Amino acid sequence: MLKSCGRKLLLSLVGSMFTCLLVLMVEPPGRPGLARGEAGGAQRALQSLGAVAVAPPPPAAAAQGPAGLRSFADYFGRLSRARRELPAAPPSPPRPPAEDISPRDVFIAVKTTKKFHKARLELLLDTWISRNRDMTFIFTDGEDEELKKQARNVINTNCSAAHSRQALSCKMAVEYDKFIESGRKWFCHVDDDNYVNVRTLVKLLSSYPHTQDIYIGKPSLDRPIQATERISENKMHPVHFWFATGGAGFCISRGLALKMSPWASGGHFMSTAEKIRLPDDCTIGYIIESVLGVKLIRSNLFHSHLENLHQVPKSEIHKQVTLSYGMFENKRNSIHMKGAFSVEEDPSRFRSVHCLLYPDTPWCPANVVY
Ligand SMILES: *[C@@H]1O[C@H](CO)[C@@H](O)[C@H](O)[C@H]1NC(C)=O
Repeated sequence: MLKSCGRKLLLSLVGSMFTCLLVLMVEPPGRPGLARGEAGGAQRALQSLGAVAVAPPPPAAAAQGPAGLRSFADYFGRLSRARRELPAAPPSPPRPPAEDISPRDVFIAVKTTKKFHKARLELLLDTWISRNRDMTFIFTDGEDEELKKQARNVINTNCSAAHSRQALSCKMAVEYDKFIESGRKWFCHVDDDNYVNVRTLVKLLSSYPHTQDIYIGKPSLDRPIQATERISENKMHPVHFWFATGGAGFCISRGLALKMSPWASGGHFMSTAEKIRLPDDCTIGYIIESVLGVKLIRSNLFHSHLENLHQVPKSEIHKQVTLSYGMFENKRNSIHMKGAFSVEEDPSRFRSVHCLLYPDTPWCPANVVY
């Protein structure tokens, strides 16, 4: 098994990113996943994607053999290294509005875990969520009466609290189902380390009709990801597609979300994720680009903690859709801004951003010069 798998892997490695593929090596075989018939759609989509040029792997990636990748953590390490090499995209020109939407039309899913209710969610509840309670749905994995008092929509997914591929896909599956149930026009997913500038988000989304097929976010790699679709127990099929990184947040129109249903609703998201053995955000990209043949719209207004946040220009902070904070190359990573609070008081800079966007907030000091 390992030997033939290794051979396939080597073949697929040529001229491609191999991070996702290698997840295969460290995991035992699972159930077959979706029915054979569905592979046809993927194949068609693959042909239509054939025009996308696949750049050679960066030297760092090429130098390391498959044996170097041991775990899910390594996989994320590879992704973050690849992200770092992404050149800054030029700013996209503003688009005219296509539809008049209100915040109430948008469903923002915030993915968290019980361990971070205090450490991360409180900051979000104090800042952007406080202005957008009706549109925000918190997806977690443990009961918390305190949290329920502070937030309007808290959903216990009953998924495992592990940071495993399966646990993440389990949460995404519940997010998808709750969005469909909500009847709203737009689904957006963010993590518990994201600040969402809802005004710019709504403005961005209103430039697209929600009935069309729209998938918007920031790709984490500078080329399509290469993966292997498991068609049956021992039949694999290579696919490549773009995906929006979950850590920066992404949005999907209702029109497109409904089309995703056979691969995403009920238990199907989990079996689709199992079929390609990739994390939740990759699986979303697989369903949309590879199966349905819809292209990701790239936006440079979404930001994850896996990019250098110092590069977000100070004068453009109010224009971004999402921001993040965290660690980057063992250093604290956050946007650079002067603001209402010092870096010691506000290491994520989210409170300062919030005071910039909503200066009437009671806890924001008056007369701050930005
Ligand atoms: C999680 O379990 C509880 C208790 O059984 C249930 O009420 C709730 O609906 C479940 N959540 C989901 C998303 O299924």
